Amino acid sequence: MTMQDFFGRELERLKRKDSYRWLRAMEGPPEARMRVDGREVIVLCSSNYLGLATHPRLKAAAIEATERLGVCSAASRLIAGNNELYRILEERLAVFKRREAALVFSTGYMANLGVISAVVGDGDVVYTDALSHASIVDGCRLSRATVKIFPHNDVDALEDLLKSDTGFRRRLIAVDGVYSMDGDLTPLPDLVKLSKDYDALLMLDDAHGTGILGERGGGTAEHFGLDDPDAVDIEIGTLGKALGSFGAYVVGSRSLREYLINRSRSFIFTCALAPSALAAALATLDVLDEEPAHRQRLWENLRHFREGLHRLGLSTEPSATHILPVMTYDRQRTMALCERLLELGVFCQGIRPPTVPPGTSRLRFTVTAAHTRADLDRALEAVEKAFREFAPL
Ligand SMILES: Cc1ncc(COP(=O)(O)O)c(C=O)c1O
Repeated sequence: MTMQDFFGRELERLKRKDSYRWLRAMEGPPEARMRVDGREVIVLCSSNYLGLATHPRLKAAAIEATERLGVCSAASRLIAGNNELYRILEERLAVFKRREAALVFSTGYMANLGVISAVVGDGDVVYTDALSHASIVDGCRLSRATVKIFPHNDVDALEDLLKSDTGFRRRLIAVDGVYSMDGDLTPLPDLVKLSKDYDALLMLDDAHGTGILGERGGGTAEHFGLDDPDAVDIEIGTLGKALGSFGAYVVGSRSLREYLINRSRSFIFTCALAPSALAAALATLDVLDEEPAHRQRLWENLRHFREGLHRLGLSTEPSATHILPVMTYDRQRTMALCERLLELGVFCQGIRPPTVPPGTSRLRFTVTAAHTRADLDRALEAVEKAFREFAPL
C-alpha cells in the first residue's frame, strides 16, 4: 500500500465513523459575531472568555512591543530569545498567582508536556483524572512514569491508589482546575489534603479557570481559598484563553522554575514567544486588576444563557462555569445539530470522541463577556429551533 492509499483509507474510515475533522474558515477578529464558512454567526465556542482579545489596551501594548522589539524573538529563551518582557511578565504572573515564581512557556500544551515529563520519570507514578486534558495525558505518556487514571473527580478512588501504591520514587497528581469539556471543577480542597497526606506533588492545570474564578480572577485555587503558596505545588495556565493573548505559564517555587529551565524539553527546545504576545499578556494583567466589569459581565451573560437553555429543557450538568455542555450523545446527531445551528446563525462546535469519552458527544457552548443580551437571546431561539427539529424538546 502506498502512503497516499494509506492516508485515503484512514480518512475514509474516519468519515464512516463520523470522526472526521476539518478546519472552518473564520473571518474577522475573534469577537462575539464572526464570519464562519462565509456566514455571519454568533460564536458560542470561543475561549476569548473575557472578550480581551480585541481590547484596545492589549492591542496597543502588542503594537508598541512590535515597533520597539520586532515581530519575532529570534531564538529559544536559553539561546538569545529571553527579551526583557519575559522577566517583567514572569514577575507579574507570580504576584497575580501568589507564588514565588513563574516561568512562561510557548503554549499550555507544551507546558503540560514539559512539566510532567520533567517532574516524573521512570520509577515514578502520576495519577490523573479520567477527563484530564489531552496535554496532561500526553505529558503523562511522554514522562515514562507509571500512569494511573482515576474515575472523574473520584477522590476516594484516588486515595485508594495512593494508599496501596508503594515503592515509587516520586508521586504526582495532575488534574484540570475547570474541566474543559464539562465545565465542572476539580475537588481541589480534597486533592490538596491527599497530596499532603500521601506525600505527592499536586499539579493543577487552570487553563479555563484563570481570569474567571475567584474575586480577583485568580482562578480555581482562589475560588477555593487555596491560592497560598503551600497548597498547590505546580500550577499551569494559558495566556491564550481568558487572558486574551498567546503563550502559557507555570507558577510554583523558585526551585521549580530553575529546575524546569534546566530540564523541561518543551521549554528548552523551542523558539521564544513574539514580543507582542508577552506585551499583550502584561496589559491583560492590568486590565484584570483595573476592569473587573469584564468578569462581571461574563457571569451575568452565563446566568442568562444557562437559564435560557434550562428553560428549553436542556441540561448543562455537570457544569459550574462558563463552559456549558449540552449532551447529544451520538456523533452524527451532534454534527448535524452543529451544522443546522450554523445555518441558523450560531456557531457552537460539536465535540466528539476522542476529545470526550465514547457515547458522550455534545454541543459545548462557551459564553463570553463580549456577547450582548440580544446575541444570547437570538442564539437561544436558534438552539430551540434546531433541537426541536432534531429531537423534540
Ligand atoms: C485544560 C487545558 N489545558 C491546556 C490547554 C492547552 O493550552 P494552549 O492552547 O495554550 O496550548 C488547553 C487548551 O485547549 C486546555 O483546555
